Amino acid sequence: MTHDEVQIILIAASWAAGACIVGLAAVWGLRRRRLVWLIGSVAVVAVGAVAAGVVGTARAMFLSHHDFEVTLWVLAVAGVVAAAGATVVGTALARWSQSLQAEARRFGESGTFVSGTGAPVELQQLSDELARTSARLAESRDREARLEGSRRELVSWVSHDLRSPLAGMRAMTEALEDGLAEDPQRYHRQIRSEVDRMVRMVDDLFELSRIHAGNLGLSLEPLMLGDLVSEAIASADPVARARGVRLGGAVDAGLQVVADPAELSRVVANLLMNAIRHTPADGVVEVIGRTGASGVELTITDGCGGLSEEDMERAFDVAWQGSAARTPEPGSVFGSGAGLGLAIVKGIVEAHSGSVSVNNEDPGCRFLVQLPSFA
Ligand SMILES: Nc1ncnc2c1ncn2[C@@H]1O[C@H](COP(=O)(O)OP(=O)(O)OP(=O)(O)O)[C@@H](O)[C@H]1O
Ligand SMILES: [Mg+2]
Repeated sequence: MTHDEVQIILIAASWAAGACIVGLAAVWGLRRRRLVWLIGSVAVVAVGAVAAGVVGTARAMFLSHHDFEVTLWVLAVAGVVAAAGATVVGTALARWSQSLQAEARRFGESGTFVSGTGAPVELQQLSDELARTSARLAESRDREARLEGSRRELVSWVSHDLRSPLAGMRAMTEALEDGLAEDPQRYHRQIRSEVDRMVRMVDDLFELSRIHAGNLGLSLEPLMLGDLVSEAIASADPVARARGVRLGGAVDAGLQVVADPAELSRVVANLLMNAIRHTPADGVVEVIGRTGASGVELTITDGCGGLSEEDMERAFDVAWQGSAARTPEPGSVFGSGAGLGLAIVKGIVEAHSGSVSVNNEDPGCRFLVQLPSFA
């Protein structure tokens, strides 16, 4: 490269850089204006920098007046055309951003975002991201609606289940007060057992609310499943005997689970009580614990005569009860009778990262609890 060429490059670069610095400072002032202004002014700065480079070099080269004038004309025309082109691009960009803005506004009003197409990559990505957010929002709205529905059902069922025993207790206490009770001892016993049932219901509701709040506060420890099942069978045995139901079971020797002992006992007790309750006299309820494909498996089989499709689908729903008439057995020892037992079982098992399911198995049904083996 000759000395003259290096000089020309340096002159052009310094004039163009000077123009660029001045132009960009002016553009910086416009950064909060509309997109079309910004893009237009970037084009003007670019053309201005080229013009400054050319003019500076032309002066240093001592061009003739005519040549210099021609150069200026060429620059002016090219500049105007470039600015017009930039304005077209800026206007299109502004339109895309306006339509995105309108879509976002509709999203705010209707909660649904409909993504447009054809925008530059960054705007299209923003639009696609908003569409994904909209889908996630719709999903959580649906979940919220389902939860709200089951909460409303629970309140109405629980108030129904509380109303009848409360009315009964009021009648009995009034009779006792007025000295009209024929057998005061029986009334006292009945009131006591109703109160016990209501205490169980409140306790179940409290447990359920802790499950739903994700607030079970499990204290996990390694447990011998055999011991836990034996204890549950021993405490359910008097009830089973009274109903003429035979209780049996077997757990693989040394089978361990890592679980909260109180909560897992509650799971087994709820399942056992249900099984005994739905098994006719002379029937058998059996608890089996063994190592399965995906961890520890605990099955409780009974002689309930089989569940209908709907029962199987909804058994674990809060406040679901198989019989249409929600009439708890007076003095029942089986639970609150509010249809909370299996919802609690499911909540506790899932909090242990396990799963619970039911299927029919002659002569009754079979509840299967699967817990991960942490060994
Ligand atoms: N072992 C079983 N055999 C047959 N049906 C069952 C069995 N376990 C539960 N069910 C059906 O599922 C329903 C829900 O059971 P769940 O334990 O949740 O409520 P519940 O026993 O009626 O009341 P709660 O457990 O609150 O005292 C029952 O009403 C019953 O219809
Ligand atoms: Mg139950």
